[in-house]
Amino acid sequence: MKPYTSRVSEKKRLSVNDLQALKNRGEKISCLTAYDASFSTVLDKAGIEVILVGDSLGMVFQGHATTLPVTMDDMIYHTACVSRGCNRALVVADLPFMSYTSLLAAAENAARLIQGGGANMIKLEGARPDVVGFLVGNGVPVCGHLGLLPQFINCLGGYKVQGRELPDAERIISDAVSLEKAGAGLLILECVPASLAQTISQQLSIPVIGIGAGIDCDGQVLVLYDILNIGSGRRPKFSKDFMEGATSIEEAIHNYHIAVKEARFPTIEHSY
Ligand code: KIV
Repeated sequence: MKPYTSRVSEKKRLSVNDLQALKNRGEKISCLTAYDASFSTVLDKAGIEVILVGDSLGMVFQGHATTLPVTMDDMIYHTACVSRGCNRALVVADLPFMSYTSLLAAAENAARLIQGGGANMIKLEGARPDVVGFLVGNGVPVCGHLGLLPQFINCLGGYKVQGRELPDAERIISDAVSLEKAGAGLLILECVPASLAQTISQQLSIPVIGIGAGIDCDGQVLVLYDILNIGSGRRPKFSKDFMEGATSIEEAIHNYHIAVKEARFPTIEHSY
């Protein structure tokens, strides 16, 4: 594979159409989480295309055991910090636990993330084509999230790989198709077998970003603090310490970006 060189203008804010163009021409999409302006700037300078203000901030930033305590006010605050730090990356913000139990709640809370936080796209967990269709119909770009759903941790009983059994795999495929049909512009697939993620990435027209979902997704996302080896928790199998061999945070993030763009990450050791 040829070394990666960027073909996208450095100044322009990326849109969901730019991500679609990357998929259409077979170029991988790089994504990382961030929760503050300083890291957002570093990610943007490295060329990361999507910055996810994930509700993982509840665990890695606030020190909770799960993402469930994260509030709308937390999400707006951190999304605004991240938006102020970057000029080019598309900023995706999570709707937190219980903030989209109805269409109206979803619309009001998405509006708060866009108007108060400066988000360019909203992400929500689970098979909710009703909510996706309603938001998209009101001008909100939506990213779906299937596979392991951290907001459902009390139903799942643990952070486990999803879709190993055929009925589960079939359900995830049909949920992915229904989210795309409803108008989702992006899909995150978390902790599923690489073969299942490959099937979904090939079947959907929209870009599929994997985390613990193998090399054949259209892009990759990881939690920033995991790749910088910050924190006391055990790093998940699907992540990698990019500080290893790097002399600075900037170099580690650059190395992640290039490894994703050149399809050198994830390897089998980071996949299921
Ligand atoms: O909240 C988050 O950071 C996420 C990623 C792990 C995909 O949803």
